[in-house]
Amino acid sequence: MVTIRSASQADEAFLQAMSALTGSWRPGPSPSGPEELAADPHHARYLEGWGREGDAGIVAEQNGRPVGAAWYRTFSVSEPGYGFLDPETPEISIAVDPDQRGRGVGTALLRALCERARRDGIAALSLSVERDNPALQLYERLGFVEVEGTADACTMRVDLDAE
Ligand SMILES: CC(C)(COP(=O)(O)OP(=O)(O)OC[C@H]1O[C@@H](n2cnc3c(N)ncnc32)[C@H](O)[C@@H]1OP(=O)(O)O)[C@@H](O)C(=O)NCCC(=O)NCCS
Repeated sequence: MVTIRSASQADEAFLQAMSALTGSWRPGPSPSGPEELAADPHHARYLEGWGREGDAGIVAEQNGRPVGAAWYRTFSVSEPGYGFLDPETPEISIAVDPDQRGRGVGTALLRALCERARRDGIAALSLSVERDNPALQLYERLGFVEVEGTADACTMRVDLDAE
């Protein structure tokens, strides 16, 4: 059975493991391994000093074992995330263990994270996704719409007030 709970500071190592999966979602060998991603300052920005003001996350567990997580944090103009819109709009990261995908865990995580943001008075959330990542369909299903894009990737936003 899968349960969800809020992430705490103690979940940082698990979130780091999940963060590595966000950069290597394509099947087959990944161009950047977990060590390379951890050494990439832009990628590391998503979790550095996890637990700072404005950070929030949700962890999914199966029989007490974490199997997925979604979290958000705000970024600045000088150190933006890939899906940065403005300093007030937190950006989402999400990943589920490969052997647990396609069973609704990601949907439950995203819904819970949006609910958490709404409770905290946040007006909108953003994310960045590569166009060929099937996660894009999940985001559209939950109301995210493209607001900026290149040929390869786009930034999506969900307006929480409007839901
Ligand atoms: C994206 C992700 C978190 C979705 O989690 P999930 O538990 O598989 O999601 P759900 O079962 O709730 O929903 C499945 C949806 O995700 C999409 N999806 C993405 N990758 C998938 C995969 N490997 N297997 C099944 N569905 C996948 C499907 O299109 C599906 O959308 P649909 O229901 O509208 O058809 C998960 O696939 C994952 O960790 N992917 C690798 C990391 C990643 O790409 N993160 C996002 C970076 S922008």
